[in-house]
Amino acid sequence: MEDRRLGPVVGLGTWNTFGGAARLACEVVRAALDAGCRLFDSSPMYGGAEASLATALGTNRSQARVATKIWCPSGDAAREQFRRQLEWFGRVEVEQVHNLVAWREHLPWLERERDAGRIDLLGVTHYSPRAFGDLADALRTRRFDAVQVPLNPRERECERELLPLAAELGVAVIVMRPLGEGSLLRRSPPAEALAELGVESWPEALLKWALSDERVDVVIPATSDPAHARANARAGEPPWFGREERRLVERLAA
Ligand SMILES: NC(=O)c1ccc[n+]([C@@H]2O[C@H](COP(=O)([O-])OP(=O)(O)OC[C@H]3O[C@@H](n4cnc5c(N)ncnc54)[C@H](OP(=O)(O)O)[C@@H]3O)[C@@H](O)[C@H]2O)c1
Repeated sequence: MEDRRLGPVVGLGTWNTFGGAARLACEVVRAALDAGCRLFDSSPMYGGAEASLATALGTNRSQARVATKIWCPSGDAAREQFRRQLEWFGRVEVEQVHNLVAWREHLPWLERERDAGRIDLLGVTHYSPRAFGDLADALRTRRFDAVQVPLNPRERECERELLPLAAELGVAVIVMRPLGEGSLLRRSPPAEALAELGVESWPEALLKWALSDERVDVVIPATSDPAHARANARAGEPPWFGREERRLVERLAA
């Protein structure tokens, strides 16, 4: 699989799929690791997903990069979230401020944790285009190393300001919702169209569509199915789509 700044370009999300289901998480994580995925995204917001992920990684923890989040308006409770993450994961490779919640308050102590070596990179996330102006302000402080935003053929608002800004500032981009929370998968295009794109499946085409934008570092599709994790990992192999292939995917997703 191709490597960019955050490692292999296909990672794994855990929202709605891992909460409280550690055994299932083990199978999905095993399949993802075997297929070359390394970045695993989670959050205290995702029910028991962090704990399930920690159990699933088990002795393979050193192969993974954990991208989780602080999601809390108060400093004390936020530090408690971080303390539990250290218990689960030992350290956090990408610590993100979830949905920009209290990001100005959290940054100083998160930077101290990064300086102390318990965090590698700091990131910030938001799912809503209404918050993209604030997300851009946060990036302009030059205190974040990564940003996480939605990007798929039906959600392209980040292309307007955030992707150019991230490229200008050297900020790594993590793509959430690359399959539109599954909504883009309700119907699959004809086999001839997939053959024209050189892919085996429609999810692979959608993930490749996002990764064909060179400003994107990694996509993090979520799945509760090990076979889907393997299929998604195939999207991390070049060649990437050119302009015409991307347009075809956009038409098929419309
Ligand atoms: N949604 C948000 O607002 C949000 C916000 C912040 C962060 N994130 C992060 O981004 C991650 C990804 O976003 P997401 O979970 O919202 O949506 P997503 O990854 O776009 O879509 C997930 C859905 O796609 C299905 N799927 C995945 N691979 C498939 C395949 N090969 N074939 C068929 N179906 C497939 C999954 O069902 P199966 O289980 O059946 O495979 C699941 O229903 C999250 O898990 C989280 O880590 C999301």
